[in-house]
Amino acid sequence: RLETSKVTDLIERRLEPDVATMLRFLGIVGSEVNMPTYVVGGFVRDLLLDRKNYDIDIVVEGDARVFAKTFSRYFEVTCVEHKEFLTTSMFFRNGLRIDVATARTEYYEEPAVLPNVEVSTIKKDLYRRDFSINAMAIKLNQEEFGLLLDFFGCKNDLEKGIIRTLYPLSFVEDPTRILRAIRFEQRFNFKIENRTLELLKKHVSQNYLERVTGQRLRDELEKIIEEPDPLKAIKRMEELRVFEHLFPDSVVDDEALRMLDRYFRRKKSAKPKPVYILAMILLKNAPERSLDYVIKRYGFPRKFPDWIKRAVNISEKLKRTVQSGEQLTLRTFFYLLKKPEPEVLSFIDATLDDKASKLLHDYLERIERIKPRINGKLLIEKFGLKEGPEIRKILEELQLAKLEGLHTEEEEKFVKELLGSG
Ligand code: CTP
Repeated sequence: RLETSKVTDLIERRLEPDVATMLRFLGIVGSEVNMPTYVVGGFVRDLLLDRKNYDIDIVVEGDARVFAKTFSRYFEVTCVEHKEFLTTSMFFRNGLRIDVATARTEYYEEPAVLPNVEVSTIKKDLYRRDFSINAMAIKLNQEEFGLLLDFFGCKNDLEKGIIRTLYPLSFVEDPTRILRAIRFEQRFNFKIENRTLELLKKHVSQNYLERVTGQRLRDELEKIIEEPDPLKAIKRMEELRVFEHLFPDSVVDDEALRMLDRYFRRKKSAKPKPVYILAMILLKNAPERSLDYVIKRYGFPRKFPDWIKRAVNISEKLKRTVQSGEQLTLRTFFYLLKKPEPEVLSFIDATLDDKASKLLHDYLERIERIKPRINGKLLIEKFGLKEGPEIRKILEELQLAKLEGLHTEEEEKFVKELLGSG
């Protein structure tokens, strides 16, 4: 049963004036080309939840290309057509993007292949979407501007905090929705509704995730990692036995969770790629063939197994040092790490408690800064040394001394003493 209500006041109150004006303008263009025009999906959900969202998804009952062409007479936008999906993306100079789609029903010839597209009306378009909370539309045409269309009790689910699929084959047609359900549930502190949860578990256990391309799964995984609290979703994924299908032989135990917690808390940027670190932590004890599988499936770098090997190796040495009662010092890191790859470093850092991690970062900052004045060339020319391993050893000692505070003026004396002591 169609429920309607006016949400014009929410549009005026909650959205930035520019965005509200843009919605009105989109409606005017729709009327000009005689197409019922709607904003749909996540944008509507977030308006009702009062959360910021700048992804405007428009659906028109008509040809999206014609709509976009007309729109671009008024605004300077670059249009990119995706013919197979009957959509056009419009890019503004300032980075804003609006996607316009022809209302459609997708049917799938076999699960998890890209959809064929059939033109249809807004109701069918909404029905084929992932979850009820994402299946509302607001009409934008002038005369009905702000009319919320809710065909499937979506607003009620949103108010109650329920993630619910709209039709039984939803997960079959797009198994990435398994990950989306978990992401939305954890982001909003909602609950996946019972029947939906049963379907989700069933399709996980029947290997539906294996039918999707690695790239699409990786995209979803990266979106989960970008959430403010990814650990919640990761725990839920483990509870629902998702990881064994994404990363065979992965282990999500207390130790891995502790590492992930540290990693996410300390992570400052998206470099190195968080999805690599996640996989390294979960696959740290996995056999070679599982790592090969992951490389191929998700397009990970060939060096991936090597990163794990080195990171585990160094971490174990650090652990033994601590267990033997020895203090971790700059010197320890110098001998064990030198200048590690960022991926290896992130992993190692995640094995350390806050105090040790601070020392590690202190070490990294210092090692980055120190540039001894004395170099190999000088050792040969001024100190009369011959090329060979000795030089490397002296330079290393010099670096270490500088790391621990030796001043530039003291370098020469230091080297002389070193040579003097044999
Ligand atoms: N959608 C879907 N099935 C998918 C992906 C998307 O039905 N597998 C629909 C949903 O209606 C969704 C809309 O497409 O609201 C836009 O998708 P997307 O931009 O990925 O998600 P949002 O819901 O906008 O979520 P987010 O806040 O994470 O951007």
